[in-house]
Amino acid sequence: MRSIPGLSIGAITMLVLFALGACNGPADDTHPDQPVTKRRAVFKQFTRTLEPMGMVARDRKKYNPQEFGVSALELQKLATQPWVYFTPDSNYPPTRANPEVWNKPLEFEQAQEKYQATVRQLVESARIGNLEVIRAAVNDVQKSCKTCHDQFRSAS
Ligand code: HEC
Repeated sequence: MRSIPGLSIGAITMLVLFALGACNGPADDTHPDQPVTKRRAVFKQFTRTLEPMGMVARDRKKYNPQEFGVSALELQKLATQPWVYFTPDSNYPPTRANPEVWNKPLEFEQAQEKYQATVRQLVESARIGNLEVIRAAVNDVQKSCKTCHDQFRSAS
């Protein structure tokens, strides 16, 4: 049997699916300074850095004081970083930030400060090295992520 030259049906299907996906997918960040892309990259780092500490808090990972301390300090370093990218001209697709970020700048700033305070507590808990204190501190950090998202990030 002669094979069909060029693309296989599978490859064509893949291309069609890719094209459809590209049409329906999130908008590209067309801003020359890419503030949405930059702040999102930091938020992803928040998640990545917090995750192992969350696992320690839930007894799903062995507590290693040195490693935990490094993660807590890393999160503290990141905690100041996304906010500068919420510039006045950065409310455009594909952002999921709520208009309240721009309408209620003081409240948004307060939410950042509360969050940073919980991260300082986390660093302190790492220094103390007591698991009960650590669990409470991780919990407070996670709650302050959620509190801010409830008000300032849209669900979709
Ligand atoms: C002071 C408010 C605030 C705090 C605190 C906060 N976030 Fe967010 N977060 C946002 C906003 C606003 C967005 C939407 C950004 C956008 O799409 O432009 C967001 C987006 C994200 C995203 C999505 C990134 C993407 O790729 O779209 C993740 C993940 C995330 N946050 C994780 C966290 C974690 C984890 C914490 C706590 C350790 C946290 N955030 C704390 C406001 C906050």
